[in-house]
Amino acid sequence: MSILETRDLYFTYPDGDERKVILNNVNVSFDKGMFYTILGESGSGKTTFLSLISALDKPESGEILFNGESIKKIGYEKYRRNDIGIVFQSFNLIPYMNGVENVMVAMSITENKMDKDIKKKALEILESVGIDGNKAMRRINRLSGGEQQRVAIARAISTNVDIIIADEPTGNLDSKTSDTIIELFKELAHVRNKCVIMVTHAQKVADASDIILKLNTDTQNFEVIHNEMV
Ligand SMILES: Nc1ncnc2c1ncn2[C@@H]1O[C@H](COP(=O)(O)OP(=O)(O)OP(=O)(O)O)[C@@H](O)[C@H]1O
Ligand SMILES: [Mg+2]
Repeated sequence: MSILETRDLYFTYPDGDERKVILNNVNVSFDKGMFYTILGESGSGKTTFLSLISALDKPESGEILFNGESIKKIGYEKYRRNDIGIVFQSFNLIPYMNGVENVMVAMSITENKMDKDIKKKALEILESVGIDGNKAMRRINRLSGGEQQRVAIARAISTNVDIIIADEPTGNLDSKTSDTIIELFKELAHVRNKCVIMVTHAQKVADASDIILKLNTDTQNFEVIHNEMV
């Protein structure tokens, strides 16, 4: 069974007197150990799709299944807290806290089983994504963009979730830093067996993924491309 699945997902936004269809009965499934990217023109509905699978918005009809169970039934808030990790383009960290504190916030609100010593564990996770003990104790606004994104990734994985959802996580980074962050996401899927779902504008980023979902603006549905190059 796929870890995440959408069934006839349908979503519209008001557009003047009418409604604009953003997702037209989308049926897609996502597996662990795989790195997915979502491509599509600006305004095609990529962020909207992520907000639905992140339970930040609700579909008009259709459903989203986590391990075969509707996230509505699981409870949207519970699903967000325990089952997914989200990484944003602008990192969304708490600027007056340091890296380890930012990670500990996520670890302290999840209901998933955590180690007793969450600080020690947070430091280990940060180390594993390339943030050493010194940087981990530094306030967020004194870290570079690439370092901040590493902290955001550490936060997303710190609660032992299987699904990592990211909206243009390299959009604010230079191309070299972006490459190293993409490698990290690839490792999350291929080495740590996470299901990684990432929106990107860059074909180069999409080429590094296993499966590309192209959001077509004629059909408002996905075209699924299996990438043989990876
Ligand atoms: N709250 C809203 N009310 C009405 N329309 C909205 C709302 N949010 C988004 N839209 C519209 O829905 C469409 C899809 O938006 P979305 O943000 O999902 O696109 P996107 O593919 O992520 O674009 P980008 O690549 O520019 O980030 C756009 O036409 C946008 O203007
Ligand atoms: Mg977007």
